[in-house]
Amino acid sequence: MSDQNSERKLKHLFDGGEWNVYDPTVLNLGVGAPGTDLLEPCCDIFQEATAHCLRREKEVNQSLIFQYGPTNGTHEIRNEIAKYLTGMYDSPVNCEDLIVTTGASQGLHFLLSTMIDFNGYLFVDEYTYMIALDSMKHFTSLTIVPLKLNDDGVDLNDLEVKVKDRRFKSENKEFWAIYYTIPTYHNPTGILFSQTVCRGIVALSRKYDFLVVCDDVYNILHYGTKPQHSRLLSYDTRTDADYGGNVISNGSFSKIIGPGVRLGWLEVPPRLKPQLLLSGIINSGGCFNNYTAGIVGSLFELQLAQPHIARLYAAYKERMLAVNAVLKSELPNTCRFVAPSGGYFVWIRLPNQVNASEFLEYCLEHEKITFIAGSRFAVEEGKGQQFFRISIAFHKKEKLVDGISRLCMALNAFIKIVKHT
Ligand SMILES: Cc1ncc(COP(=O)(O)O)c(C=O)c1O
Repeated sequence: MSDQNSERKLKHLFDGGEWNVYDPTVLNLGVGAPGTDLLEPCCDIFQEATAHCLRREKEVNQSLIFQYGPTNGTHEIRNEIAKYLTGMYDSPVNCEDLIVTTGASQGLHFLLSTMIDFNGYLFVDEYTYMIALDSMKHFTSLTIVPLKLNDDGVDLNDLEVKVKDRRFKSENKEFWAIYYTIPTYHNPTGILFSQTVCRGIVALSRKYDFLVVCDDVYNILHYGTKPQHSRLLSYDTRTDADYGGNVISNGSFSKIIGPGVRLGWLEVPPRLKPQLLLSGIINSGGCFNNYTAGIVGSLFELQLAQPHIARLYAAYKERMLAVNAVLKSELPNTCRFVAPSGGYFVWIRLPNQVNASEFLEYCLEHEKITFIAGSRFAVEEGKGQQFFRISIAFHKKEKLVDGISRLCMALNAFIKIVKHT
């Protein structure tokens, strides 16, 4: 009998394999998710928010939370998200510009399926969020074009040359191309795109009329000075003479409340909203996550979400600053890293002859530590072998500090071995 349908009863996304982040015998520095200690308060605050929300549904709202929701989400939840983000971003977020999603992964898939000509182009950073790449590859008629990435963001010359060469007029979709990026605390490199680069991207998107999709899941997690512009979208100023509406911000509560909640939002310019809201997928099912959106609305209304997010933020900040400090003093000086000022990830460059996948094997064998080798994030086959990414999100500071210190020791030893072979 075939066993293809047998089930392993997994408890979480990273369960059942060598990436099990909950395995106490291995220190997994690969996973970009909040740790156990950070999610622990969720049961209590969600219980309170659920009771509040459902009481109101029963008493005054005819239980409409269980009905197909308005396509973009109820006014109430969009208003809560807009109010919160306006405070965090220090720039206005309009509730009319928001569309509720089930998180940034779904937001991206939704945009790929609706906004771009299927014979078109997807421009991406040469190293980018690996699972976004997996989503893009489902759209087999689209061509993925990697762009050079510098320490301050995408290389604007490279972007212009590659866009200019490929531009065409789409007969059936709004855009002939999308540039997908993570401008604020980039995954995997941890960098923050400079103001010059952000302005340049917006200028090019207007000139060549392509859509910029910003994966904005880390934006409020700044650990130094707060960036003046909290998201690239705010450079696409609506009062400009050449404004068209070329940038979408794809946000999520996964990193700041909990990934299992599956709630996010798209912040979209007015010209794109009707096309998105008239799409079959959103009209057939209504709001992508009406029930959960209602509960999270109560979480904000009751002031339970705000301190929870603040707790996660403080923990991430403490973890990132501690990891940066260990790397600054203990990373072999033939390696390089740009200390991130926010987000989840640190991107480390090894000396030329040292291969990150081989170091990963060595590190697992000698120190029981894992991370993700750079080639997983590379668009082009064979690239990224000199890099690896570590995440600061899951483990507590003490465990991280000890682990990073042991990783640096292992790296020192491994570099010596490579040099002598
Ligand atoms: C850049 C980026 N986008 C999206 C996601 C996933 O977001 P969500 O849980 O909202 O789908 C992640 C998670 O690692 C990420 O790093």
